[in-house]
Amino acid sequence: MAGKKKELILQASVTNQEQWEEMLATKGLTVVDVYQQWCGPCRAVVSLLRKIKNELGDDLLHFATAETDSIDALEGYRGKCEPTFLFYGGGELVAVLRGANAPMLQKMIVEELTKEKLVLEQGNKRKVIIDVALLDDKNKETEEQCQHSENKESIIVPDSKPYTVAIIKPDAVAHGKANEIIMKIQDAGFEILAREERLLTEDEARDFYHHKAAEVCFEDLVQFMSSGPCHILVLSHAEGSASVLPAWREFIGPIDIEEARREKPESLRAQYGTETLFNAVHGSEDSNQASRELAFFFPNFRMGSAMEQDGEEGRVERTLALIRPDVARENREEILTQIHNSGFSVALQREVMLTEEQIKQFYFQHVDEDYFPALLQNMTSGPVLALALARTGAVHQWKNSLGPPDLDKAKEESPDCLRVKFAVENRPINQLHGSASLEEAEREINFFFPKQQTLAVIKPNAVEENKDAILEEIQGRGFSVTQLKEAVLSKEMAEEFYKDHKEKPFFNQLVEFMCRGPCVMLVLTKENAVEEWRAMMGPTDPEAAKKTSPDSLRARFAADILQNSVHGSSSEQQAKEKIDFIFGDISST
Ligand code: RTP
Ligand code: MG
Repeated sequence: MAGKKKELILQASVTNQEQWEEMLATKGLTVVDVYQQWCGPCRAVVSLLRKIKNELGDDLLHFATAETDSIDALEGYRGKCEPTFLFYGGGELVAVLRGANAPMLQKMIVEELTKEKLVLEQGNKRKVIIDVALLDDKNKETEEQCQHSENKESIIVPDSKPYTVAIIKPDAVAHGKANEIIMKIQDAGFEILAREERLLTEDEARDFYHHKAAEVCFEDLVQFMSSGPCHILVLSHAEGSASVLPAWREFIGPIDIEEARREKPESLRAQYGTETLFNAVHGSEDSNQASRELAFFFPNFRMGSAMEQDGEEGRVERTLALIRPDVARENREEILTQIHNSGFSVALQREVMLTEEQIKQFYFQHVDEDYFPALLQNMTSGPVLALALARTGAVHQWKNSLGPPDLDKAKEESPDCLRVKFAVENRPINQLHGSASLEEAEREINFFFPKQQTLAVIKPNAVEENKDAILEEIQGRGFSVTQLKEAVLSKEMAEEFYKDHKEKPFFNQLVEFMCRGPCVMLVLTKENAVEEWRAMMGPTDPEAAKKTSPDSLRARFAADILQNSVHGSSSEQQAKEKIDFIFGDISST
């Protein structure tokens, strides 16, 4: 009877140390949702757990929720509650999942349950891990103990990047302000990790704001939030600083619009809100709420660093690949084909002759190694082909295709890997490089493909009709908009702006046209921005554009060769000069 009753409860509730120990003593696999008292367990996964339980119907599978505040063993999780699932087999930690990632959770439950059964039934060795989030100074000994004990293998599960969830609410979206707000968000140094336009149903709005259910305004809030599409964003700070949550709260301003206008006239709510209910934007209150909201809107979203060893279903990443000179010369096409066949796309490509200094800078961690002189000699023997490769889990996947860095070891352990396939006889140095981690990939890509800025202008004829479409395409192509200003140019400014064309027959017409109405001026940042933006604009004359690049902006939005919808700097030098001319007043303050 007692057993039956227990089965009716999906997740056992663990609220004190005794219950915790009792739970650890349970035979089988227990999946624990770790939460903090004031926010409650993760509701987003309950139905998934129920489904798994029903499907597997296994007596050895248990679920629990555990409150960090009252269980000593969970002290390390207090105050840092992204939804976290701890997997215990026979009382020992065997896996950790951060983030309420439903497919991943399901996969891990099935896998870990199978493993635990092999432990129980066939006497297999249990693989025990340590979660880095639980390690504080006092716990460091535990880590050492584990590393020294032979039957335990420790895998450190990394923490992930701080983020907040932001919503541009239906009022701001309906007023056509979404793009403008998004640009301001980027200008202010926030990085958009995910973005989705979404119309919430009433039920979803109710669920999302369930913690406000007791408030008088609740029904109005539900009606409002489901009245039109929202833009849901996941934001991080470009520098990845821990302060993204307070920074975003500060940026949106007080909930009360009057107060916002009085105290924080620069804030988004002061600018876009109309009353307390219609206050334009939302931000998570703390990291805990951010993680619940992330799970609510983006159940499949994964932070780059967590569970990196299984990059398959993660988000798209980029990694740096280097093809060293000998192979870049001999096997270039073959390698590029292999890369495409393995599901990578080449996001950036550049052939470059490196100086000794640059190689030392790039491989600064290796300069003292025995093999460095050979590497240096090899790398300076001709041009290197540098590629930024993109796909889900790119870093891990590319490392996998490469195989071990040591060629002898590679031949022995993975004879099919690319490093073995493209090894050059009598050369001890492998011919292919891949970034070791996401952080390193970012640094290395930036080394070979430094970000560039260009000035883009949406000209008066296009501002009227195609502004939003153009802004959207700019973002869709991966440019970040680092400055934006809408203004009507004075005649003097237009003359100065196009001063290089002073002698041209169309100069006066051009100046008159550029002053006719507001222009939107933008600083675009991306690798190779100058060239890419020119390519996106297409040829000056729309008739030529329609023939050679029918998808270009000018082919679609230009009225004629004069009123050709967009401007872009034609060189890096010109970009610097014009950005300074247009935005100099802003950047110098
Ligand atoms: P932009 O500077 O505006 O990005 O354009 P662009 O480099 O493609 O062309 P550019 O030769 O610099 O010309 C500047 C702008 O002058 C107008 N134009 N009109 N009537 C004409 O024959 C003529 N030719 C050029 C266009 O507005 C052109 O974008
Ligand atoms: Mg030009």
